[in-house]
Amino acid sequence: MPFIPQEPAEAELQPESVKRVVVDLDSKKPEAREKMNMLLKQSDPKNRPRELSDEPPPPKTIEDKVAAAAVVLNRYRIEYKNDWDIPQSIITSKELIKGFIDRNESIELILPAFPFKSSNKSTKVLGSLPDEAERVSLLHLNGLCESVKEATENDCHLTIISDGIAYNDLLDVSDSEVWTYGQTLRSMAHELGCSNIRFSRMYQLLGSEYSHLSTLTEEQYLEMVPEFRKGLESNLPDGYNVSEEISKNADVNATYCGYKKFLETERDIKLGRSRADKENADLAKRMLNRGKAFAEAIKKRFPVSVRLSIHPSTDVNKISIALLPQDNEVPMTPWHGAVVRKVDGTITMMHAHKVQAVSHELVYQNGRPMYFRERSDLFSWNGKDVDFEYLYPTGLIVRPRDIGSAKNALCTVDMQKVRKLSELCSPVCLRGFTDTTDRRAFTAKAYDLGEVLPWEFGVIQEVKDKGGKPDRTTNSVQSREAMPMHFDGVFKLKTIIDEETGEEKQVSDAPLFQYFVCQEAAPAGDGYTLFASSNRFVNYLPQSYNIKKLSKIRWSSHSHGYFQIDLTNTRLIEPHPSLGTPCVRWLQPWPRWKTAYNSHDVSIDNGSQNLVSLIDSILFDRRVCLYFTWEKGDIVVSDNYSTLHTRTAFKGDCDRELWRIHIG
Ligand SMILES: [Fe+2]
Repeated sequence: MPFIPQEPAEAELQPESVKRVVVDLDSKKPEAREKMNMLLKQSDPKNRPRELSDEPPPPKTIEDKVAAAAVVLNRYRIEYKNDWDIPQSIITSKELIKGFIDRNESIELILPAFPFKSSNKSTKVLGSLPDEAERVSLLHLNGLCESVKEATENDCHLTIISDGIAYNDLLDVSDSEVWTYGQTLRSMAHELGCSNIRFSRMYQLLGSEYSHLSTLTEEQYLEMVPEFRKGLESNLPDGYNVSEEISKNADVNATYCGYKKFLETERDIKLGRSRADKENADLAKRMLNRGKAFAEAIKKRFPVSVRLSIHPSTDVNKISIALLPQDNEVPMTPWHGAVVRKVDGTITMMHAHKVQAVSHELVYQNGRPMYFRERSDLFSWNGKDVDFEYLYPTGLIVRPRDIGSAKNALCTVDMQKVRKLSELCSPVCLRGFTDTTDRRAFTAKAYDLGEVLPWEFGVIQEVKDKGGKPDRTTNSVQSREAMPMHFDGVFKLKTIIDEETGEEKQVSDAPLFQYFVCQEAAPAGDGYTLFASSNRFVNYLPQSYNIKKLSKIRWSSHSHGYFQIDLTNTRLIEPHPSLGTPCVRWLQPWPRWKTAYNSHDVSIDNGSQNLVSLIDSILFDRRVCLYFTWEKGDIVVSDNYSTLHTRTAFKGDCDRELWRIHIG
């Protein structure tokens, strides 16, 4: 779902029918402006038909795909500001991406990263093995590839090449620790299903004489590390003078300053200030030399890959990205600190020794410390032994450790805690509890959650494909079609007095929560429910359309077919009923060509029509939107204000069946 970069002045004039046209705004070329003017003349927004066309838009051209991929990469940058603020690294990447698509090859991204956990185990990190920081980071990077895939309809892989043995000897970390860290990271990526992530080893940079080492044992690796390191150093260009580079190259200088600062806390030794400064400066230069050799080797081995970097830079030669979502002003890499989560799941990376035990508890998985979690009664479940797993990018799974025990029947769960967790971090999924699919048990717990809002046909709506003939006068809920992003109750209207005009108007009467049980799940990879978090949405807005500006926006919709309802003057952002946090109230446009059922159009009342595709694209951004895979028996509670939702289509003979109750 690409968003087309437009500068605000032009975006204000942008009619909706121009949305799909990519205008090259890398520069303000006269021809781009001419093209824009021509398109503006061709489509007068006043005359835009309300019933949208049956015809799908023409297939994306290669240029469309490349531009859409560039938007994705740009948005993941540390220094991202607006879609039209494009640095040289993104312009270069467009050429490379075009090359991959032209050659019908997977788009390849390369990232030197994940060396080993900090050598300062006593204050910075939780141990020598990958933990929650790496877990979230792998999911984040895999999501980046998924977004590039969707933008380009092309495969995309990200290769992590560990630079561990380029630096570990300088920082007194053993080769064996580097090996174990790397192997555990690989297993983690596999278990998480990060199928777009690949790993490459140092020897793969060093030439064809090492190509026989496709499966390397730990013993062989440890034996050959000195040889690999020597081979790496041979890539340092003749005459490369690191001191000169520091003085004339802004990126090298930034990395040098970053290394020196990092070394102040990295080396777990006590030295006088001036001696420490001198040693750290020397060490930083040696690290820069190794880094240069490493970068040169990558250029030779991966000449056409899109080069990503963990280091903040001028974004000329490489795309600098944060490896995981975090509140930190200056991003911290996963291996230099510990994840600290608020109850709502948001992450701050911190040096472990700075985290206060009085406010945070350490969470373990299989006996390994993984991250710090804000202390809260919401994690104490009446003596139940349950684990809480944060989903990426939003949501929480609660699992009893004693799966299948009658002690963990649904009726024993404190639904008020589930409700409060759901307000903070929707969706909340109870997985592994018993009696969840029992109609009476499921219904009874709805009344513990809040006020049950029945339909005319009863309390439970059974959502499954009824197999009926598609019909434009019916609703697609009971079909296998994909649906638009929405909140429940969008077309259920109530009359209120408009605060500003004092006049009566009709607005959506939305339930506060959705409460589901999964009676049958779709096969793996099919029939996802998508949950888009307003909290995450707010984090990824461009500067020119920040939440303050979006809070003024209102939209309208006209539906054709089943609902036949006009929504007008609808606020895009509303405060959460109990938390006051900004919540996105949105209905994704659903033109006739997308559906055999009810369709609707959506327009912005008081701003650029270009906002429609911007809002859609951020809601479907993998950093905002959870692709939730159901398992039979799952109970899910989702806050219908803080979270929008939809589903993907499901294919074939799929008995996916969800039961849903609305809670007020
Ligand atoms: Fe819904």
